[in-house]
Amino acid sequence: MTSIYARSSAGVTVRPARPDDVEAVRAIRNHAVEHSTALWTQTPQTPAEGATWLAAHLERGSAFVAEADGEVAGFAVYGPWRELEGYRHTVENSVYVREGRHGLGIGSALLAALVTAAREAGHHVMIAGIEAENTASIRLHERFGFHHVGTAPEVGTKFGRRLDLTLMRLPLA
Ligand SMILES: CC(C)(COP(=O)(O)OP(=O)(O)OC[C@H]1O[C@@H](n2cnc3c(N)ncnc32)[C@H](O)[C@@H]1OP(=O)(O)O)[C@@H](O)C(=O)NCCC(=O)NCCS
Repeated sequence: MTSIYARSSAGVTVRPARPDDVEAVRAIRNHAVEHSTALWTQTPQTPAEGATWLAAHLERGSAFVAEADGEVAGFAVYGPWRELEGYRHTVENSVYVREGRHGLGIGSALLAALVTAAREAGHHVMIAGIEAENTASIRLHERFGFHHVGTAPEVGTKFGRRLDLTLMRLPLA
């Protein structure tokens, strides 16, 4: 263990992301883009876009990966919730676990590390914006004390249907 964030759950180690994680992270994210309503876009990240996106997270220490059986099995990041400076104490999270490894505690291990890091960085609130029918993600966030603060009906669309956005909130301080 080389980091205070490293922790194990069912053979899984969570550690801060590194630049060489970029292609594994991009593959997991792009799988969700192409096959799920977790991310409301159908445009996969290019290698250049993935590198730029991860670099911004690496700079502020807000990206973590879970390793299992020698491969990156998931990632979690946080970043600004909204751009105006009045929102600067609030961050929004994202947690993605590789297909085939869901339900094994990996998302929980990642979210634990992410919440700890956001607290240590002095942030005040963490928000999760979740497609309202994503019961796995809602359960994951409930498990960490996030509370449902509202659902905005039909604010998104993907795969030919309208999507509702559930917001969940965790006080960090
Ligand atoms: C959501 C996601 C990150 C959860 O990660 P995970 O590793 O599968 O979750 P865990 O194994 O740590 O389980 C966390 C909780 O969710 C529950 N859960 C997991 N999968 C579930 C499912 N399909 N349905 C209902 N509950 C589920 C677990 O039982 C556990 O709750 P418990 O402690 O009460 O038993 C993962 O399913 C995933 O990557 N999904 C696709 C991408 C996505 O939706 N990301 C979130 C975008 S908001």
